[in-house]
Amino acid sequence: MEEVLYNKENPFPAKIVERYLLNKEGSTKKTYHVTLDLADSGMTYKAGDAIAIYPENSPEDVATLLAALGKTGVEEVIDPRSGKTLSLEHFLKTKVNLLRIDEGVSLEDLLVKYPPLLPRFYSIASSPQVSPNRVDLLVATFTYKVGDIERKGLGSHFLCDLAEVEKTPIYTYLHPTAHFTLPDDPNVPIIMVGPGTGVAPYRAFLQEREAQGATGKNWLLFGERHRAHDYYYESYLEELKEKKFLHLDLAFSRDQEEKTYVQHHLLKRGVMVWKALQEGAHFYVCGDARRMAKDVTHALQTIIETHGALSPANAKNFIKTLRKEKRFLLDVY
Ligand SMILES: Cc1cc2nc3c(=O)[nH]c(=O)nc-3n(C[C@H](O)[C@H](O)[C@H](O)COP(=O)(O)OP(=O)(O)OC[C@H]3O[C@@H](n4cnc5c(N)ncnc54)[C@H](O)[C@@H]3O)c2cc1C
Ligand SMILES: NC(=O)c1ccc[n+]([C@@H]2O[C@H](COP(=O)([O-])OP(=O)(O)OC[C@H]3O[C@@H](n4cnc5c(N)ncnc54)[C@H](OP(=O)(O)O)[C@@H]3O)[C@@H](O)[C@H]2O)c1
Repeated sequence: MEEVLYNKENPFPAKIVERYLLNKEGSTKKTYHVTLDLADSGMTYKAGDAIAIYPENSPEDVATLLAALGKTGVEEVIDPRSGKTLSLEHFLKTKVNLLRIDEGVSLEDLLVKYPPLLPRFYSIASSPQVSPNRVDLLVATFTYKVGDIERKGLGSHFLCDLAEVEKTPIYTYLHPTAHFTLPDDPNVPIIMVGPGTGVAPYRAFLQEREAQGATGKNWLLFGERHRAHDYYYESYLEELKEKKFLHLDLAFSRDQEEKTYVQHHLLKRGVMVWKALQEGAHFYVCGDARRMAKDVTHALQTIIETHGALSPANAKNFIKTLRKEKRFLLDVY
């Protein structure tokens, strides 16, 4: 039988086989562990890769728009982007980002040009050594306001709330990483900075390094709001710490008056960071791009200036060199 190649144009219909809330009762966040079954897809991945999923609009949003358009949904339409014929309901559910269209839009306008429903990316939180046919994901849900109306993130709401476990097809394809990978040499130390969902690829790295019997130091800096509610993969990480396989620094930002963030731990342990870099460590940053990644990079620069006794310009060059050597790696969004 000829093997089917799944990609952006021909995504694989995966099923969710497991989904549970990682936050405990009392938390102000809702972040889910979601496992997709890739068996029979022929898809293979490596630690550090992400997966893309095509989300769907909620049935309520589709129904509201159909009512506004005075249609039932069974009408056939031609998708202007693909040229394919499909039912209006299917078109609205899977092709148009309904959260991005203007009120009062006409069907004629939509059928000329519409905001497309683009794929969403999620870091894979498992290693193929442990889960060759499945991928674990860590998906944060959130709400935001448009005027007075509360809206939910489209892709995260679809994956965590709308899609039914073992039932809804989740159209997916792999989004391999070029450089956000483990060092080839398992003796090389790694420093992994990943607050929030940024911890996802590090669970894959740690599973992989355990499977490799890697001897290089593994150092994780994780943070979330509260230790009691938001410590993702607590038992796994504590177990690795107990086994002395992992050096763990935790920054629970809202457990005390003053905010504590991952970079505060980095700065406190500047000597250790500098020493690890001298030993060839790879330094990874994953998670929020808007503030966290910038602040962590800034902290790294401060550490290099202080402990490497370098001028700001030389410390910048040092980071540039780390980037060139693929030892300072970012996966931020
Ligand atoms: C390489 C990579 C890896 C990633 N890994 C992860 C991961 O491991 N876990 C994870 O949770 N996420 C991850 N992400 C982020 C993820 O891909 C999505 O961006 C995230 O889930 C939000 O998508 P959404 O569809 O839920 O939200 P969207 O519906 O796309 O909304 C996103 C934001 O857009 C704004 N917005 C949307 N519509 C409107 C509107 N009509 N008016 C005003 N503002 C609006 C809102 O501010 C909202 O906060 C990753 C991204 C990349 C690129
Ligand atoms: N639009 C939204 O409403 C929304 C909601 C959630 C996530 N997101 C986006 O989704 C991505 C990941 O979110 P996430 O749920 O994984 O977690 P996150 O929002 O990145 O938060 C994780 C932890 O990082 C802390 N943090 C905040 N600012 C920081 C900084 N400058 N440096 C270091 N740590 C910082 C947070 O503390 P505090 O929160 O206590 O400051 C929290 O303890 C981000 O891109 C984020 O912007 C958007």
